Amino acid sequence: MGKSSKDKRDSYYRLAKESGYRARSAYKLLQLHDVFGLLSIPSDAPRVVDLCAAPGSWSQVLSRTLPNTSRIISLDLQPMTPIQGVVTLQADITHPSTLPLVLNHLGGEKAHLVISDGAPDVTGLHDLDEYVQASLLLAALNLAVCVLQPGGNFVAKIFRGRDVDVLFAQLRTLFTRVTCAKPRSSRGSSIEAFVVCEVYAPPKGFEPSLERPLALGMLDDGLGEGATVELADDGEIVEQTENGEVVRYVVPFVACGDLSAYDSDATYHLQEGRESIDPVQPPTAPPYKRAVELRKALGGGGK
Ligand SMILES: C[S@@+](CC[C@H](N)C(=O)[O-])C[C@H]1O[C@@H](n2cnc3c(N)ncnc32)[C@H](O)[C@@H]1O
Repeated sequence: MGKSSKDKRDSYYRLAKESGYRARSAYKLLQLHDVFGLLSIPSDAPRVVDLCAAPGSWSQVLSRTLPNTSRIISLDLQPMTPIQGVVTLQADITHPSTLPLVLNHLGGEKAHLVISDGAPDVTGLHDLDEYVQASLLLAALNLAVCVLQPGGNFVAKIFRGRDVDVLFAQLRTLFTRVTCAKPRSSRGSSIEAFVVCEVYAPPKGFEPSLERPLALGMLDDGLGEGATVELADDGEIVEQTENGEVVRYVVPFVACGDLSAYDSDATYHLQEGRESIDPVQPPTAPPYKRAVELRKALGGGGK
C-alpha cells in the first residue's frame, strides 16, 4: 500500500502528520481529554507520568497543553527522540528498577496524572493478547499507585475481553470513578478501549508496594476488615464497606469525540490540493529494524 492510499484510508494518521504529531494516538488522548478534562490539572506545576510513551505523541500533547512549569516524565522500552519539556527515559514498566527511577525524576513529589497507552506486540491469538495486555495494565497500575497523589487520575489502554469486569472491580477499590471510554479515533473494529480512573482514593491502610503487587483476582486486597468486593453474574460490582453498607456499581461506557469527528474506520478522499507528507518522527529503533537490515543485505527491497 502506497503512503497516499494509507492517508486516504486513515484520516487520523494524516491529521497527526499535518499537526506535527508522531502518531495518530495523539487524538485518542485529546478526545479523552475533551470528555474528562484530564489535562486541566488544578496546579501551577502539574506532574504527569506517561508510561509506554514511544514514539511520543501523548507526550507531545502533554507538552503542548500543560504549562511549561510542568514536570512530564515519559518512558518506554524503546528509545524516544527528545520532546521539549519532557524527560524521556528508556525503561520497562514491569521491571522493579523503574519505580525508583520515576520517583527520582518526580523529585520526591507525587504525580497528579499517570497515563499508559501500553500495548504488547499483538500475536493475533486473542486470549494471549488480552492476557499480555492485562499484565501490562497491571504493571502500569502497580506503578501508578506508588506514584499518584490521592485525588490523582489514571488512564490506561485495555482490551475489552472476557475478564474485563474483574479488572474494573479492582480499579474501583482504588478510584472513586471508573469509566470505560472509547475515543472516536480508536477503531471501532478494535477491542481497544481506555479505563479512565478518577480520584485516587486508596482504602484505609492500603500500602502500595512493588514487593506485594496487586494482581487480578485479589479484589479485596487492602480493603480493610469486613470490606468486600464481588462481581455479580451480570458483571455489576457489588461492594460492601466496613460499616456493612452495600453499593452496586456499573462501570459506564462512554464514547469520546463528537459525531462530526472523523470515523477511524471510514475511508475519506484526500481533499484537492492536499498531499501526503512524511511521518513526523520515524521510529528510532523499531523491533523490525534488524529484519529490514537482513532483507537489504540479502538483496531484497526495504525502507
Ligand atoms: C501504542 S504504543 C504507545 C503510543 C504512544 N502513546 C504515543 O502516543 O506515541 C505502545 C508502546 O508500549 C510500549 N511498551 C510495551 N511494553 C512495555 C513495557 N513493558 N515497558 C515500557 N513500554 C512498553 C511499546 O514499546 C510501545 O512503544
